[in-house]
Amino acid sequence: MSTDTPDSNRPQTGQSGSGNPASEPRPVRIFDTTLRDGEQSPGASMNLSEKLEVAQALADLGVDVIEAGFPIASPGDFEAVKQIAATVRGVTVCGLARCSDKDIDRAWEALKHAPQARIHVFLATSAIHREFKLRMTPDEIVERAVSGVRRAAAVCDDVEFSPEDACRTEHDFLCRVVEAAIDAGATTVNIPDTVGYATPGEVFARIRMLRDRVPNIDKAVISTHCHDDLGMAVANSLAAVEAGAGQIECTINGIGERAGNAALEEVVMALRTRSDYYHFTTNIDTKRLVPTSRLVSATTGIVVQRNKAIVGRNAFAHESGIHQDGMLKERSTYEIMSPEEVGFAKTDLVLGKHSGRAALADRARQLGFQLTGEQLQSVFAEFKKLADKKKEIYDGDIVALIGSEISDRVEAHWSLTDFEVTSGRNRKPMVTVTLRSGEDEFTETVEEGDGPIDAAFWAVERITGIETVCKNFRVHSATLGRDAQGEVRVEVEYQGELYRGIGVSTDTVEATILAILNAVNRIAAQAAS
Ligand code: KIV
Ligand code: ZN
Repeated sequence: MSTDTPDSNRPQTGQSGSGNPASEPRPVRIFDTTLRDGEQSPGASMNLSEKLEVAQALADLGVDVIEAGFPIASPGDFEAVKQIAATVRGVTVCGLARCSDKDIDRAWEALKHAPQARIHVFLATSAIHREFKLRMTPDEIVERAVSGVRRAAAVCDDVEFSPEDACRTEHDFLCRVVEAAIDAGATTVNIPDTVGYATPGEVFARIRMLRDRVPNIDKAVISTHCHDDLGMAVANSLAAVEAGAGQIECTINGIGERAGNAALEEVVMALRTRSDYYHFTTNIDTKRLVPTSRLVSATTGIVVQRNKAIVGRNAFAHESGIHQDGMLKERSTYEIMSPEEVGFAKTDLVLGKHSGRAALADRARQLGFQLTGEQLQSVFAEFKKLADKKKEIYDGDIVALIGSEISDRVEAHWSLTDFEVTSGRNRKPMVTVTLRSGEDEFTETVEEGDGPIDAAFWAVERITGIETVCKNFRVHSATLGRDAQGEVRVEVEYQGELYRGIGVSTDTVEATILAILNAVNRIAAQAAS
């Protein structure tokens, strides 16, 4: 946990808020909202065991606060917050609530067993939200905010208040609401750029304005929560810290509502790499950034773009001859951080058919995955099957096998027994699929569709009776080479909800059927719960 105090809102004088190199660096809290705002990304929903795994990884990464969910939103959200609060240690667990008694009571019910709990209450304050969404007057907003914060503070001594759409709220009114919320017991006041509209200069000025005008501002930590609609979330968060904010709200890989939130890994590495300029510290173990990014990507199905700063596959790849030449002579010519510092494994070590369980476990650990005995067993079985088909197994293969194992943790209502496919340039595709459910096997042959992939969707649909609409279909090769495994990710819509599936195989049609089944099993599990 950070030892941060409200005083850490204060930038060091004479340094444009970036900290005074002559004094101790100022600690900045990292508040991770991957499991709440991040999970609001379309198609990113996670089940309970996935959320628990991500929460533990965030605690291992060293975040100060985990926003674990919005307990009133659904029974699933409630259960996830409750279990994270009951099991994850060394970190503050936070639950979101609107400023309503029911929301706050539900949030506390989920959080009360956490050794360090926080209730985060929010209420929109901008004129647009007041008039069109809430239909409330400014006085009513202040009254509702105060009663929400008071109710939360009556049960929990750590209360965060967010005036939603703060960055489009009139200065006078924002000062009034923030002051009232602090008086009512808020220990953190978050200033969200809810719609990703602000610029870094504006964010800096707004935080400074609050520090200058709100008389009790030193009684609370100022937080920043920036969305990335204009691609400025990270720059805006850093500007807020320069102006005196003591907490940054962010997500792994920058996932979140619409264009997402500020990316945790970018904010943290900017503070660290430019410590000459920023002079702030965080508690993040930067070597865990890449493994945590991979875990979140595998769990949510949201792929990290190759050129993504810090954690993208190409983030440290030097292609041009001039750059490679410079790198060979002196790394710092073109490298401002080292890949090891953010957790990229040193070498793409090759495993093969004679590699044992211990070698696999060791490699998985180096790649950042802490597999349980049961997971290792299952990944090892798949590893052995793969080693029979493919001589050399690379890191990419292992990550794909683990990603598919993580995704497969949904109960397998349907499993693939066999399939056969024929297709050709001038003929209709034909796919025969045999699935098992419990003791029974079902076979369906389909001779229609635009190709074998379409036909596979039809066959699974006819056997399971679950009719879905395919919204996204992606094939990606786990490694280089003709014998590379294909990783298929699908997103299907069923009764208005999006479900995702991952399948991995050296045979792309098989990977497709496995991905469809993974999504269908999620639908079946949801229906059964
Ligand atoms: O973007 C936003 O305003 C939010 C609040 C709930 C903090 O996510
Ligand atoms: Zn948000």
